[in-house]
Amino acid sequence: MEIFRTINPARQMARTWKARGQSVGVVPTMGFLHAGHESLIRRARAENGQVLVTVFVNPTQFSPNEDLAAYPRDLGRDLAICESLGVGAVFCPEPGEMYPPGFATQVSLPSMSQVLCGRSRPHHFQGVCTVCAKLFAITEPDRAYFGLKDAQQYFILRRMVRDLDLDLELVPCPIVREPDGLALSSRNSYLDPAERRAAPVLSRALRLAGELAANGERRARELIGAIEGTVAGEPLARLDYAQVVDTETLSEADQIESEVLVAAAMWLGRTRLIDNLIFDPGAR
Ligand code: PAF
Repeated sequence: MEIFRTINPARQMARTWKARGQSVGVVPTMGFLHAGHESLIRRARAENGQVLVTVFVNPTQFSPNEDLAAYPRDLGRDLAICESLGVGAVFCPEPGEMYPPGFATQVSLPSMSQVLCGRSRPHHFQGVCTVCAKLFAITEPDRAYFGLKDAQQYFILRRMVRDLDLDLELVPCPIVREPDGLALSSRNSYLDPAERRAAPVLSRALRLAGELAANGERRARELIGAIEGTVAGEPLARLDYAQVVDTETLSEADQIESEVLVAAAMWLGRTRLIDNLIFDPGAR
């Protein structure tokens, strides 16, 4: 497995693979890999000749008051996981390589970035779009793999890829969960034991909303009420938001008529957790 800290050799590697007729699957990550990332890597491995994993804690998607400095990191372990899963190369640049002096461009989709998580993280998705545009330009993948726990991120990047005519396929991958329902996240490592016990309330709340929708409820307000009521039953948890939005535009849906994202975020102490489900009333 090759390890690249700079852009040019990573780009050359991807081009060499393609010149050999191998397709390239890229898995962008911020490291501290868990079973959710592993599922993305396995899928990329199954669908491509070569897999490149990027490990970069992107400073521009954190606000000044967020957890950039505390964000968990363990590159040695990440590299061992990648190696064991048959990854061909890892690109793990320093911030100065990605954002050299004079860097000035931002990629943003304001209408989709100020809702849901964007309400409390106003610069987050601009940071995500900009770094992903760069990672796609550097690695020129045939496919890039994203977990649906960050569904807003996936829908925004899907829009960006279409709008900018980027020549790659984005592959959304199912949320991986702990046995008690908690969606895997690097931030779960922040939870103390009591918070960890309380955390599955978010997935329970969303499951209840999903059951209501599956049984024919089409009023978004009812689904949101079910989520609010369930989370309110957990004393340690504080709901940040629960919303139902159209998956194409991320605009709020009052009535469920096409595919929607039912998304929620909650605070447990100083940790903010997110979870969601996608519901399509037309699907059987
Ligand atoms: O989902 C993540 O881990 C990050 O937002 C991403 C896509 C790697 C961009 O930094």
